[in-house]
Amino acid sequence: MKVLIADKFDATGIDQIKAMGCEITQDADLKEAALTQALKDVQPAVLIVRSTKVQAEQLAATQTLKLVIRAGSGFNTIDIVNAKEKGIKVANCPGLNSTAVAELTMGLILALDRHIVDNVNDLRKGVWDKKKYGKARGLKGRTIGIIGMGQIGKLVARRALAFEMNLIYADVIPAAEFDSLENVKRVELDELMKQADIVSIHVPAMKETEGMVNAQRIGLMQPHAFFINTCRGTVVDEAALVAALRDGKIAAAACDVYANEPAATKDSFACEIKDLPNFYGTHHIGASTDQAQAAVGEEAVRIVKEFKEKGTVLHCVNE
Ligand SMILES: NC(=O)c1ccc[n+]([C@@H]2O[C@H](COP(=O)([O-])OP(=O)(O)OC[C@H]3O[C@@H](n4cnc5c(N)ncnc54)[C@H](O)[C@@H]3O)[C@@H](O)[C@H]2O)c1
Repeated sequence: MKVLIADKFDATGIDQIKAMGCEITQDADLKEAALTQALKDVQPAVLIVRSTKVQAEQLAATQTLKLVIRAGSGFNTIDIVNAKEKGIKVANCPGLNSTAVAELTMGLILALDRHIVDNVNDLRKGVWDKKKYGKARGLKGRTIGIIGMGQIGKLVARRALAFEMNLIYADVIPAAEFDSLENVKRVELDELMKQADIVSIHVPAMKETEGMVNAQRIGLMQPHAFFINTCRGTVVDEAALVAALRDGKIAAAACDVYANEPAATKDSFACEIKDLPNFYGTHHIGASTDQAQAAVGEEAVRIVKEFKEKGTVLHCVNE
């Protein structure tokens, strides 16, 4: 069985797939037209990707492909509807990088509250300014509002509760194990936007969540509030967020994901939000810890093994 890996992938995982008797082609630079060409040349049965997009153009280039594995949890970079029409199954590796994203989320919250990035930048320039940086609201007793209490949302919730924060959350499904806790409340989304000192969003990118944090909802937030987005750029109206940050309608924001972020791992990046002084941004690195990547790699190997030996597809998202 031929397996094409169009991204970086754990070396142990590659050895394990080879040991199953698969023929592997790996190239982390296969994006867009290069991926289309590779699918024609290699004719794989299985394609493994991390951030590489798999759209109609790529799917049209192959007659052999049976399975696309997204080595991560979100699968909005893959045209699952088109794949289904062609009889190609798409699988993801859910939950395995959730801790990494929750850890980054907490890091961003702490960084905003204590102005850590500006602190460090000034110190590196030889500027000592205890007066400027000696101001922070602190987290204990503050209210975090989590939009989307799924795998990542719940891990952020646990960490926020360990920081002795109060928790409100909005989700279409209740998080039963949290509802009995004293300082936790499920609320409507607009209410969450009004009440939270920190809003952190963890919903999947899909039609229903596109732009759900829009100008009207950002307008409900308190002037001292922070907004954190480590899920996907599409869930937020980025222009409205820029306006709110610029006009001081909210205090600060931090994002790991952007509406028009580059597909390549290294590229130039022009966007308005990154230049704002009350914005901290990271490079879509939420899932990128060694622990998370090893776990995701192991799961992708398990999916290949099941498919090769039994023809079954674990975690199929386009059944
Ligand atoms: N920054 C990164 O590198 C990174 C890494 C992994 C995942 N992610 C993103 O995080 C997202 C969440 O991941 P997860 O594993 O927690 O997913 P999940 O499916 O476990 O949880 C998503 C939650 O959102 C809720 N939800 C869906 N639609 C909603 C709506 N309209 N209103 C309120 N709640 C709604 C669901 O009920 C669910 O509880 C992923 O889809 C992915 O896009 C980002």
